[in-house]
Amino acid sequence: MTPSGYKLSLAAAAVQFLGLTAACGCDCTLANLNSTVEGRVQPLTPFSLPCFSSYNGEQVTPNDAACANIQANYTDPYLRTNSPNGYMNNQDEMCSSFPQDQCLLDSSDPTDTLAYVNQTCRQGNMPSYYLEVTNANDVKEAMHYSNCSGARLSIKNSGHDYLTRSSGKGTLSLWTRKLQNLSYSADFVPSGCQASYNAITAGAGVNFDEAYEFAHQNNVTILGGYSPTVGLSGGWVMNGGHSVLSPVYGLGVDRVVQYKIVTPDGELRVANECQNEDLFWALRGGGGGTFGVVLESSHRVEPTISFTAAIVKFTSNSTNVLPFMDIIVNNTIKWAEEGWGGHITGDTLVNVSPLLSVSEAEESLADVIAYAKAQGGSATVEAFSSWYNFYNKYVTSSAVSVGVTHFAGSRLVPQSVFKTAEGRANLMDFFKLLLANGQTPYIPVVGPVLYNYTEGSTSASPAWRQAIWELGSGSSWTWNSTLETREAKIATLQNMTATLESITPGSGAYSNEANAFTEDWREAWWGDNYDTLLSIKNKYDPTGMLSCWKCIGWEESQANSSCFAAFQ
Ligand SMILES: Cc1cc2nc3c(=O)[nH]c(=O)nc-3n(C[C@H](O)[C@H](O)[C@H](O)COP(=O)(O)OP(=O)(O)OC[C@H]3O[C@@H](n4cnc5c(N)ncnc54)[C@H](O)[C@@H]3O)c2cc1C
Ligand SMILES: *[C@@H]1O[C@H](CO)[C@@H](O)[C@H](O)[C@H]1NC(C)=O
Ligand SMILES: *[C@@H]1O[C@H](CO)[C@@H](O)[C@H](O)[C@H]1NC(C)=O
Ligand SMILES: *[C@@H]1O[C@H](CO)[C@@H](O)[C@H](O)[C@H]1NC(C)=O
Ligand SMILES: *[C@@H]1O[C@H](CO)[C@@H](O)[C@H](O)[C@H]1NC(C)=O
Ligand SMILES: *[C@@H]1O[C@H](CO)[C@@H](O)[C@H](O)[C@H]1NC(C)=O
Ligand SMILES: *[C@@H]1O[C@H](CO)[C@@H](O)[C@H](O)[C@H]1NC(C)=O
Ligand SMILES: *[C@@H]1O[C@H](CO)[C@@H](O)[C@H](O)[C@H]1NC(C)=O
Ligand SMILES: *[C@@H]1O[C@H](CO)[C@@H](O)[C@H](O)[C@H]1NC(C)=O
Ligand SMILES: *[C@@H]1O[C@H](CO)[C@@H](O)[C@H](O)[C@H]1NC(C)=O
Ligand SMILES: *[C@@H]1O[C@H](CO)[C@@H](O)[C@H](O)[C@H]1NC(C)=O
Ligand SMILES: *[C@@H]1O[C@H](CO)[C@@H](O)[C@H](O)[C@H]1NC(C)=O
Ligand SMILES: *[C@@H]1O[C@H](CO)[C@@H](O)[C@H](O)[C@H]1NC(C)=O
Repeated sequence: MTPSGYKLSLAAAAVQFLGLTAACGCDCTLANLNSTVEGRVQPLTPFSLPCFSSYNGEQVTPNDAACANIQANYTDPYLRTNSPNGYMNNQDEMCSSFPQDQCLLDSSDPTDTLAYVNQTCRQGNMPSYYLEVTNANDVKEAMHYSNCSGARLSIKNSGHDYLTRSSGKGTLSLWTRKLQNLSYSADFVPSGCQASYNAITAGAGVNFDEAYEFAHQNNVTILGGYSPTVGLSGGWVMNGGHSVLSPVYGLGVDRVVQYKIVTPDGELRVANECQNEDLFWALRGGGGGTFGVVLESSHRVEPTISFTAAIVKFTSNSTNVLPFMDIIVNNTIKWAEEGWGGHITGDTLVNVSPLLSVSEAEESLADVIAYAKAQGGSATVEAFSSWYNFYNKYVTSSAVSVGVTHFAGSRLVPQSVFKTAEGRANLMDFFKLLLANGQTPYIPVVGPVLYNYTEGSTSASPAWRQAIWELGSGSSWTWNSTLETREAKIATLQNMTATLESITPGSGAYSNEANAFTEDWREAWWGDNYDTLLSIKNKYDPTGMLSCWKCIGWEESQANSSCFAAFQ
């Protein structure tokens, strides 16, 4: 689409906010919605606006103190997750296809004046308005308004999405972060069911730092991601949800036992194994932002888990990464059987196993420990009496950087690849290619290999059930990159994805951390579950009120009116 055609469709989106397309006789204005939710509908301005003196072409007065705080915390996930306009990845915030349509600082140096002095702050891919959700009625009112005005909605929780699925130009954002309830029950009975579970129930705005602390206070372990600020009830669990404990204890979708959700017809529903079972299945892998707005979710927990952790690292150079990866590839099947999960990069391995003692762990990892030490590196193998202790020691300090433009590009690697010499050689070739492209391997070892899965119980990609690794590529660009640079970066990402697909035939990908531009996304992200998920989507959201990038029901024709139009 041409820039002017694009601007026309944006103008159409703006008209919708004036209520001019109202299809019913009701008072279908934003002002009326605002009055039904105690004035909590607010304009949403870009995160870094306080640094700029021009906003959408109008002169504005910079707020130096607010700007200084944003600069100091630009790469801090807490400031972003706690702000209605805070997104971890710049592509959620900027309109990637139109390099002038953004309001960003220079991530490598947020005090770099080139980015904001004499520059115009534009709305980018940011929603126009947001509503801080406090209860089911807020969501019902917003859906009613969307239904009658045609205004588009987005749902934002922690703002970690790599695929822009929690933002969206011209949308009204439903911000769930303030839903902070937490409760624990050793015999939680899903509404209307017989069976009981040891479970924690969390409001949809609870992030992992809060859930981990609450679980610890109650002497139980909840599975979650390797980040303090990803949310428990949103995109993480609805798309799969991996933990370093997943090899033994399963994925987030395996452990969730109930959701409370407002569906696009405005109904508050309970979805579990005894009621709205189709919806429950869809919410166990079919994705966030698709079937309704979740208000709370309940998750099985374990008694306090003790485990052994190994932290192996060395300083990489141009020759010592590949031999390290060779040892890792050759040991992966054995390690999977021993319950190991964790993260491996070109020069680190941080893995945990609940099944091994410290001495068993040292023996299991002997080759890789010896190699790291020979490179002048170190190895620590230690026992932990709880997840919370490990989390505080290692997870809080190793969060993936945010406040940058970063695209993920991972694929699930099945066990079968490790079982043939050809499969292993292909992996080694892929590592060579990554290194040649100036990237380093990034491998979450999170496949639920030892988990006793009930066939068909979740709608996440069936490829998860064969997977040992999630193996990544990725791409980044700077605040002032040109469209040509961006297109070239995405073309390289596409090439890496095609290469990964060719060495993992029949497998799939974890949409949360996959290449946003995956061409066979339906097949890769949901496999045979896609058609059933689509019929459930059509049942609960027949008018397509909720839509997000490559979510269930999304169509290629929607790409042109998105901020990713240039990359299709
Ligand atoms: C730094 C970082 C670390 C990560 N670590 C891990 C990890 O260890 N394990 C892992 O599995 N993944 C991880 N991820 C990926 C993460 O799971 C996804 O980004 C996920 O989408 C985040 O969900 P969210 O709800 O927190 O974020 P958001 O961006 O707020 O939302 C993501 C999606 O969920 C939808 N959504 C959110 N809340 C609701 C709701 N209440 N109702 C309906 N839809 C909702 C949104 O509309 C959007 O589509 C990581 C990502 C980042 C950036
Ligand atoms: C997007 O727009 C371009 C140019 O207007 C057009 O050629 C293309 O067919 C459109 N693509 C889709 C999927 O609609
Ligand atoms: C909603 O009402 C509040 C309180 O009156 C007001 O501050 C706010 O600007 C209104 N929102 C919009 C979008 O007009
Ligand atoms: C921002 O950074 C400053 C300086 O590091 C710190 O004192 C402050 O607490 C941070 N603010 C927020 C909201 O994170
Ligand atoms: C901004 O513009 C003014 C006036 O043209 C100029 O003096 C100043 O150097 C510019 N600053 C930057 C950082 O570009
Ligand atoms: C939070 O919990 C309290 C007490 O159980 C309950 O009254 C309230 O409705 C809950 N809020 C939400 C948004 O679920
Ligand atoms: C949407 O509008 C239709 C009629 O225009 C109505 O039947 C339906 O109940 C509305 N849904 C919501 C959530 O308001
Ligand atoms: C958790 O365990 C500790 C130590 O065994 C005990 O003191 C505490 O009371 C327990 N807390 C709960 C909430 O059961
Ligand atoms: C890994 O296995 C391959 C055969 O598949 C072998 O050639 C190679 O030497 C092994 N590497 C190590 C470090 O054991
Ligand atoms: C890489 O580091 C190892 C261990 O310090 C060293 O033996 C090797 O010579 C280094 N290689 C290069 C190319 O620097
Ligand atoms: C696996 O789960 C099934 C069904 O829940 C159960 O019958 C079986 O005993 C379980 N197997 C193991 C090894 O736990
Ligand atoms: C982007 O800005 C940096 C300084 O922040 C500058 O060095 C670089 O040349 C700029 N790149 C482009 C494409 O303008
Ligand atoms: C990736 O790009 C290279 C260099 O252009 C090309 O040789 C290769 O065939 C491409 N791979 C795939 C899978 O598209």
